[in-house]
Amino acid sequence: HQGGLSKSPPMGWNSWNTFRCDIDQTVVKETADAMVSSGMTDVGYEFVNIDDCWMADSRDTNGNLAPNPNTFPDGIDSLADHIHDQGQKLGVYSSAGTETCQGLPASIDNEFNDADTFASWGVNYLKYDNCGDHLGRSAWERFSTMSDALDQSGRDIVFSQCSWGSYDEWQWSWRHGGNLWRTTGDITHEGSWTSDDWTWGIMDIIDHADQNNTHIHANWGHWNDPDMLAVGNGGLSTSEERVHFGMWCLMAAPLFAGNDPRDMTQTEVDILTNQEVIDVNQDPAGVQGYKVRDDGDQEVWVKPVTNNNRVVALLNRSTSPTTILTTASEIGMPSADEYYLRDLWNHNDSYTSGSISATVQGHGIEMFRVEMNAGGEDTQPTQYLSDWHW
Ligand code: GLA
Repeated sequence: HQGGLSKSPPMGWNSWNTFRCDIDQTVVKETADAMVSSGMTDVGYEFVNIDDCWMADSRDTNGNLAPNPNTFPDGIDSLADHIHDQGQKLGVYSSAGTETCQGLPASIDNEFNDADTFASWGVNYLKYDNCGDHLGRSAWERFSTMSDALDQSGRDIVFSQCSWGSYDEWQWSWRHGGNLWRTTGDITHEGSWTSDDWTWGIMDIIDHADQNNTHIHANWGHWNDPDMLAVGNGGLSTSEERVHFGMWCLMAAPLFAGNDPRDMTQTEVDILTNQEVIDVNQDPAGVQGYKVRDDGDQEVWVKPVTNNNRVVALLNRSTSPTTILTTASEIGMPSADEYYLRDLWNHNDSYTSGSISATVQGHGIEMFRVEMNAGGEDTQPTQYLSDWHW
């Protein structure tokens, strides 16, 4: 089953947040190339995903989905070849209804045929949306049919269910082989950022994860998807972008850059390719972080990682700098005389006997990897798994 795929959260790029329907094979190729030259590929962004609007207005005479002849004249298969030659993977998009969200042909009643088409093109990933007429069928029926179709295509195709949290997907999508499932509506609003996107785009999404305890459903091959990244898209300050990226990593979210990798500022590159923060996202224990303290505008979040260590995030939702304090014991570390702290944004080391604190700027985050110092009692991942509350 697709459960064997995406052992850690998938990473890549998706065309939607920047390009919407203004997408063609040249943009996709150039983006794939820029992902290699900028170093994004090296740190793990392997998927190059085309969102809505790659398909022609109607199916071809054989009833197959076909690419738009004006914007993808060389076909999706030749794009796949180019992308595979660079060690990358290709994703496409369809919908579990009669039309995509942009009114183009979609896959309901054509699931097996379309999965075979995608497989024949060399596709590695399918984002499967919830638009169009559902023909009276349940979400389970519509999404599990495509999951079965991908299985029988014989190709490994990551299955991304995009039904916006409308059906409490975290409870069940993994049961039919969903590798990831969207938990909320879109992070961007009709293509443009408004002044309050920090609030409803970033804070609302993390609150949604907390309120629904989505973390208990994440595991290898099965991830909550709080939507694609908005780093570099213009609606957030640099500090807010760090919060966004840091929290998505802490929440074991799929990491799909939504920017234009052909045209990035150094700040954008530094955030998106911060290896130490990406390592938190990709940690092999496969656990999604969760909130352990809420003092209103100050929050403490923790992600258990391998070797019984923890990553802690100190999040300041207010607009002024504040000192946030937690302890090794509050974040679930075994007791020890001394802990090692690795600062994941400032890239420096320190030691503590238990208290962990930082001055965090307004709309800011600080993140530390917390490990028992040498001499402390070392434990194994299996022991960590047994102390986890599944
Ligand atoms: C929906 C999805 C978005 C994007 C668009 C494309 O809104 O949630 O992520 O795929 O459709 O039309």
